[in-house]
Amino acid sequence: MKDAAPQPVYLEDYTPPAYLVDAVHLTFRLAPNTTRVLSRIEFRPNPDATSRDFFLHGEALTLISARINGAEIIPEVTPQGLSAIVPDAPFTFEAEVEINPEGNTALEGLYMSNGMYCTQCEAEGFRKITYYPDRPDVMSIFTVRIEGDTPVMLSNGNPTGSGAGWAEWHDPWPKPAYLFALVAGDLVAHPDSFSTRSGRHVDLNIWVRPGDEDKCAFGMEALKKSMAWDEEVYGREYDLDLFNIVAVDDFNMGAMENKGLNIFNSSCVLSTAETATDANFERIEAIVAHEYFHNWTGNRITCRDWFQLCLKEGLTVYRDSQFTADLRSAPVKRISDVIALRARQFREDNGPLAHPVRPESFIEINNFYTATVYEKGAELIGMLKRLVGDAAYKEALDLYFTRHDGQACTIEDWLQVFEDVTGRDLSQFKRWYSDAGTPRLHVSEEFNNGRYTLHFEQKTPPTLGQEDKQPRLIPIAVGLLSPNGDEVQPTQVLEMTEARQSFSFDGLATRPIPSILRDFSAPVILERESSNAERAFLLAHDTDPFNKWEAGRALARAGLLAMMTEGAAPDAAYLDAIARVARDDTLDPAFRALALGLPSEDDLAQALFDAGHIPDPQAIWDALETLRDTRAEALESIAQDLYSRYQVTAPYRPDPDQTGARALANAALAMLSRRDGGTRAQAQYDAADNMTQQLAAWSCLLQAGAGAAATEAFYTQWKHDRLVIDKWFTLQIVQTAPDRAAEVAETLTRHPDFTLRNPNRFRATLGALTMSPAGFHHASGRGYRLLADMLIRLDPLNPQTTARMCSAFETWRRYDPVRQGMIAAELDRILATPNLSRDTTEMVGRIRG
Ligand code: PHE
Ligand code: ZN
Repeated sequence: MKDAAPQPVYLEDYTPPAYLVDAVHLTFRLAPNTTRVLSRIEFRPNPDATSRDFFLHGEALTLISARINGAEIIPEVTPQGLSAIVPDAPFTFEAEVEINPEGNTALEGLYMSNGMYCTQCEAEGFRKITYYPDRPDVMSIFTVRIEGDTPVMLSNGNPTGSGAGWAEWHDPWPKPAYLFALVAGDLVAHPDSFSTRSGRHVDLNIWVRPGDEDKCAFGMEALKKSMAWDEEVYGREYDLDLFNIVAVDDFNMGAMENKGLNIFNSSCVLSTAETATDANFERIEAIVAHEYFHNWTGNRITCRDWFQLCLKEGLTVYRDSQFTADLRSAPVKRISDVIALRARQFREDNGPLAHPVRPESFIEINNFYTATVYEKGAELIGMLKRLVGDAAYKEALDLYFTRHDGQACTIEDWLQVFEDVTGRDLSQFKRWYSDAGTPRLHVSEEFNNGRYTLHFEQKTPPTLGQEDKQPRLIPIAVGLLSPNGDEVQPTQVLEMTEARQSFSFDGLATRPIPSILRDFSAPVILERESSNAERAFLLAHDTDPFNKWEAGRALARAGLLAMMTEGAAPDAAYLDAIARVARDDTLDPAFRALALGLPSEDDLAQALFDAGHIPDPQAIWDALETLRDTRAEALESIAQDLYSRYQVTAPYRPDPDQTGARALANAALAMLSRRDGGTRAQAQYDAADNMTQQLAAWSCLLQAGAGAAATEAFYTQWKHDRLVIDKWFTLQIVQTAPDRAAEVAETLTRHPDFTLRNPNRFRATLGALTMSPAGFHHASGRGYRLLADMLIRLDPLNPQTTARMCSAFETWRRYDPVRQGMIAAELDRILATPNLSRDTTEMVGRIRG
């Protein structure tokens, strides 16, 4: 018998929990295939409830026994949970269940990874551990006993006792079940400590498998910096005597903020100079900070329900981006964030998976850990801060923390603190949370008798279920430059509230050149008629680093579009302007490296589509290659100069200075390798003593068609290191000519080191293919077929990772009918797979439309 189609859950259907939990005691008797979980839960009727029905979530559990107030009961059990008749007064519920961690390949609930027990409970994984009201508005105090034969046994909070074969933990802070964690295994610690500003001594550990001890130092420094930063900037102190991080090899996401026991994908915490790149180090620093910051924004104040996910995620992403901006370069961080936002969130917002930052319904919540909830959610915080100002933002946050500490909150609670502090009415701003789609902001200009006027018009395209959209409040940061390059109007934030609105500036001697949407002050698509001369001018003169970079990007894009639609030659204005930037030693090398980047293939596909063309992935790739070749020739002597001047000779450190220098030198190497056939790259490869230099060199060699020896040498050198071998899988695929990418990926799926059990390896291989659009969308259809084949194989093992990767198909409607037909056939083939998971069914169904 087939189960009924899974039903969506709606935000508007929220009702408070019928019963609250005062305390929960858990005992785990660990065994790989037959772990017993004993629970004792103190329930109390919720005075605010509208129902007295007693229901506990529970999935894939074998119920051994259940008792209420000590008396055995026979509850009604379904695949979703358990119901029973309960007293109309506080009562104790006890259950014993059996679960199978070893057989748990979905990596949700209690599972095993390389012989180690580990949990993942967000969003709804706790119900795979025992029967419980698995919803974030039920917060309780957890006491945990672990029995097993592993040397290290960890849970949330503080250790309260241990002996041969057991350990006990108590977490004094009430928490929802999704923040529960347990880890047990043969682990070693990299220890350290931190003193909070009020004098609390906190023991810190990063727990790893034996052999990985030398990969923890950087993560630990990042943790201590995060703790100090949150005290200094947000006034938030840590609230336990112990903070543990555990590195796990098999993990669906980046990391998880379980109270006092953060669990990390090992790729997001382990690093050494030899094995991790500068980009890896930066990401590790940001993720360690992100999870730590959740202790206040997520744990002390959590979400009422999963529709409010952006309450913790948007805010915490915003906080970690502030942290990185403070520690490193604020402009470089902002530019990188916007590149990522456009690549992932704009793409999502513009296709069949578009949804509001606060969705109103879902079938599988795991499918809503999206760029929209996270990255656009963070942009909304940034806009709010820009609108109310730094002082009011700080005041509002202080009020948020005092008013809501210990609560499970909503976006309404969040906006209310801003309204209370500023007296502003934020109801129009709230549309940013409820309306999907990226607004298009059109601007035109007028200059008359010293008065310069900007006419704006905003429009948000319809999205599924949201046809007409009301105008949003858009903060538009604007500055004006005079034709000689001076700034005649420093940045001013215009608040647009109407569908059409004009803003004037008086007393100008000449028509100014506007710099609009400085610092990317709102997540919108700016549409403005501009000339290459003006773009080059802004690239040279804008005082706003973001718009300076944006001007160079726009220049490159315009040139590429002309190459593709008019058969134009590479744009001399671009080559000229970019040469000037590359040579300008007053500019941060990291900024110059970013400026030397080109629009992505996906970016160009969308730009072509928006301009009324059907994008041809191969033609896009060809245009980029032509431009790269031409640029390598035009900038050859500059590249030589940069390559030699920006070599780092000091011992490796992943700090901003060295990182920027390496980024610029390696951008130069990429140009030079198009001229010298890879001679310099080979020399760099041979001499490299760190992964940044080694990987950059190998990448250039592959690009130059001279990488075979390095490919072999790399494998031989690193075959013992899973994280480095992930890079080996990825780079071969992304640096292959498009007509061979699917074939290379397919061959790699048959490599003995390929496995469906490890999400990192799956992403390193199939994810890599989708990151190379010309290869993935190759006319043969081989890329589509391979991905669909592998998703069908992965789904029964790991629905979450399968579903996430389906988004590779989300842009399918922009391509030609033949490609659309091939993709539709693959989507239908996936959908027709028997027993397809709820996760994948929802995703593919939404994409297919
Ligand atoms: N809450 C985690 C984070 O962003 C992400 C996550 C979600 C991890 C679901 C695992 C499962 O910090
Ligand atoms: Zn998070």
